[in-house]
Amino acid sequence: MPKDSTVSLHTCGDLTRLINEAEALTCAVNETDHRAAVASLMRLALPHVGIPDFSDTPVNDGGYARKMLHIHPHGHFSVLAVRWMPGANTPVHGHNAWGCVGVLEGEIGCETYCCREDACECSMAFLSSTGLIRAGAGAVATVGANPEGIHRLFNPTEKEAITLHIYGMDLSRDPLAINVPYQH
Ligand SMILES: [Fe+2]
Repeated sequence: MPKDSTVSLHTCGDLTRLINEAEALTCAVNETDHRAAVASLMRLALPHVGIPDFSDTPVNDGGYARKMLHIHPHGHFSVLAVRWMPGANTPVHGHNAWGCVGVLEGEIGCETYCCREDACECSMAFLSSTGLIRAGAGAVATVGANPEGIHRLFNPTEKEAITLHIYGMDLSRDPLAINVPYQH
């Protein structure tokens, strides 16, 4: 995907404005973690963002489909949407950069984890669940880079859900490069 791609933005209402504001922010502010400011922008924009077209995006074995929407021209961040079928569930994972996620439609569940104090390494065998939440349309959450914010996302309902994600790294070569997997 070209780095200046703006795939399907015409279907996404105020997503274009959100991206423009985020680009101005990440260029103007001399920080590496923009999650708080980008989350504020996302909260304002989310009610006005249309549902992306997922007709060309297959659902994976986990029951969800990831659609890349935009990559910052200099790779400061990437924007993608995820369609969650009923019962969809991600593996437990961390992220290689800061991130913001907002619920566009439906309801999404998130279970968070941390490494136990007696852990000799931060691996799946030493993770403990720290909580489980459900969030509906309009909700926005942020996550820091691994090992902060280890989590899994899932759809706990019988209806599809759609989420919008902004991650602070260039995912043009590999959309899955954001994830740090924790496996048994
Ligand atoms: Fe995640």
